Amino acid sequence: MKPIPVIIDCDPGVDDAIAFLLAKQLPELNVLAISVVAGNVSLERTTYNALGLVEFLNWDIPVYRGASGPVFRKRVDAADVHGSDGMAGIDLPHTRRVVQDVTSWDAIYQYALEWKGKLEIIAIGPLTNLAMAFMKYPDLPKLIKRIVIMGGSTLLGNASPAAEFNIYADPEAADITFCAGVPVHMCGLDMTMKALMTPEELDSVAEMGSKEAVFFHDVVQGIVEFMGRLGIIGINMHDPAAMLYAADDSIFKAYPAGIRVETKGAITHGKTVTDLFSDAKWQKNGFVVMDIDRDAFVERVFELMRKY
Ligand code: BDR
Ligand code: CA
Repeated sequence: MKPIPVIIDCDPGVDDAIAFLLAKQLPELNVLAISVVAGNVSLERTTYNALGLVEFLNWDIPVYRGASGPVFRKRVDAADVHGSDGMAGIDLPHTRRVVQDVTSWDAIYQYALEWKGKLEIIAIGPLTNLAMAFMKYPDLPKLIKRIVIMGGSTLLGNASPAAEFNIYADPEAADITFCAGVPVHMCGLDMTMKALMTPEELDSVAEMGSKEAVFFHDVVQGIVEFMGRLGIIGINMHDPAAMLYAADDSIFKAYPAGIRVETKGAITHGKTVTDLFSDAKWQKNGFVVMDIDRDAFVERVFELMRKY
């Protein structure tokens, strides 16, 4: 089977960085470009991190820069989780690479035209760039086959009691994306909280010995400590789990659903509202990914990291 042509829209970010490591080795994906957005840290820093990561991986793909914050509200970040540099204080190599001279939303449209309906987007940050693209190009939905996102939850939140971070950071953009007319596969906290890697499994990755494997281990240690203070032993691999779902959904369980976003509530803004089986019978605009075979996930991560 031909690899799926994809653009990764992201806000690196510790777990975005791990998702890059895996994406480069996934034979199922043909990664055409990276697009960055403000999220975990500022746009300036997510851009710097994306360029440093592709340099570190010696990965020959273009990086496009998008939105510096949401359109309708103030920017929030997750520097308390990912470190003020978004990379847990780990130095990335200096690089001569620069961002492309085209915005993310224009690039998404151009790739979509070029790939004639086959393009898929894997969005692992706030959805501002996608919303901008849909607002600017009304014919874009029919040119994109599928969007896989890391974001949302049918139940709990992490950025607020109601909302997951990527949706909380730009709820209006998320709702525009869910309503655009492209099927959205929502890899939310329901599933990603189960995509846990234990400290021992992280040590096993480091023991593989490559610079990429050691980076994998080292960059997540700050989050392991952060999660430990919340009573979780290990790290929830949010973005990497979405990346693996986009490549091969056979170890996941997903259900058709109607999905919208609460944008008005004073304490519930950013909550994804999901209709799986209510009397309301919303139109199904996507899938909610609810479950993962954790052991198979960890095995796949090991297999991909051994390729370095
Ligand atoms: C999501 O928020 C970010 O902090 C992570 O990179 C991930 O995309 C998890 O809620
Ligand atoms: Ca992310």
